[in-house]
Amino acid sequence: MEPDLIHVDPQLLAKWNRPVPRYTSYPTAPQFYLLDETEVRKKLIQFDRTDKPLSLYFHIPFCRSMCLFCGCSVVLNRNPKRQSAYLFHLLKEIELIASQFNRKRSVSQLHLGGGTPTSLSEEEFERLMEKINRHFHLTSDGEISIEIDPRTVYADQGAKLKALKRLGFNRVSFGVQDLDPLVQEAIRRRQSEEMTVETYYRARELGFHGINLDLIYGLPHQTRERFAKTAEKMVQLKPDRMALYSYAKIPWLKAHQKAIPDETLPTAEEKFGIYVDARARFMKGGYTAIGMDHFALSGDPLAKAYEKRRLTRNFQGYAVEMAEDMIGFGLTAIGFIEGAYFQNAKELGEYQKRVGEGKLPVERGYILSEEDKKHGQAIQSIMCHFEIEKERFDGVGDPTALIEEGLMEEKEGKYVATPTGRLFIRIVASAYDQYIGKGRFSRAV
Ligand SMILES: C[S@@+](CC[C@H](N)C(=O)[O-])C[C@H]1O[C@@H](n2cnc3c(N)ncnc32)[C@H](O)[C@@H]1O
Ligand code: SF4
Repeated sequence: MEPDLIHVDPQLLAKWNRPVPRYTSYPTAPQFYLLDETEVRKKLIQFDRTDKPLSLYFHIPFCRSMCLFCGCSVVLNRNPKRQSAYLFHLLKEIELIASQFNRKRSVSQLHLGGGTPTSLSEEEFERLMEKINRHFHLTSDGEISIEIDPRTVYADQGAKLKALKRLGFNRVSFGVQDLDPLVQEAIRRRQSEEMTVETYYRARELGFHGINLDLIYGLPHQTRERFAKTAEKMVQLKPDRMALYSYAKIPWLKAHQKAIPDETLPTAEEKFGIYVDARARFMKGGYTAIGMDHFALSGDPLAKAYEKRRLTRNFQGYAVEMAEDMIGFGLTAIGFIEGAYFQNAKELGEYQKRVGEGKLPVERGYILSEEDKKHGQAIQSIMCHFEIEKERFDGVGDPTALIEEGLMEEKEGKYVATPTGRLFIRIVASAYDQYIGKGRFSRAV
């Protein structure tokens, strides 16, 4: 069935539009408990006995202004001194981690996220990359990616983009959200179409591959009709990848979201319609729908990974699987080492204090049991491949209700999500979650 032919009964939509995790980890962050650095050190030593490659994540939390929808971990800041103090501690954290290893470990994926990583100056980027290269070995075919707010690299005529290319970055992801000025005004993110388009073409000309554009549906004043224009423009630009995120409304965690009046938000039905329309337009434009919210042109490594079942889901969303173990550096950063999640301190002063004292700044985490791992693999399989093998996951979860509701079906020894089930894949996955009901999450639609 074509996605644009999918009609969902409003009553079912209301039923499925319930709070569920986005499953960027399993167990999800609300299950994490207090942990100290001794646990991390143990896992790092264990990891050091292996030859596995690593993935590294660096969190740069600073933003000059707050977009009202934002659900990320952000520190509002316009003071360069505060930023250089943070970088100082980040460099120190790299040393602390690297000193746990007997040799320079190979890194196949490096990602800078935020906040706004491009709030760093060229010189700060140089220092960071120099430090990373000194302590880790970035493999020649590795992915070095960064999240970029186009508003921060526009005025300099591409100077910072050029510097990033020179420093080895090969993948970029731009935040667009919506091109509509009315929506932009309501989310307090003024970013002209010219700014977005020009920045995108500059990145192309500089030879970046796997260029991604982020969009969000469910923002204030969005309608099917208005968002169709943004979707159309995106297809014309033809980025290699697009992310189309559902607006995650979590005002109990992000108080600034309360400044968006509820009555300006699309209804659940309209929001779902915006998604289904945009998805259909992207697919008609040559994109493969990957997982629930990513789209990639066929031929792009992400599309290939999906076809070859080498797709993974981590804190950055969907990615090509290269390394299972990830170390997270910086404020709130989450890593996964030898079957355990670790999350750094969430408060800037605390993070810097701990690193300053020569301690690993981890605060919370979760060591997975064998049972957790099984559930995690089932959820990963559903989120990435839309199916699970019956025998392998026998007794891990119960798909009965999903089958009755038409979200899953039995096929050749597997349980496979139906076309409707694919659109509610978080609901499908939640049937395999032992901890569902514990913790607050944004809604499925
Ligand atoms: C951490 S942000 C970094 C991008 C960069 N700071 C920018 O704004 O361009 C990555 C992406 O997360 C998405 N995002 C942020 N808050 C969100 C929310 N509440 N719901 C859904 N997506 C969100 C946006 O699409 C954003 O581009
Ligand atoms: S969307 Fe990006 S620029 Fe806006 S507040 Fe969030 S992290 Fe900062």
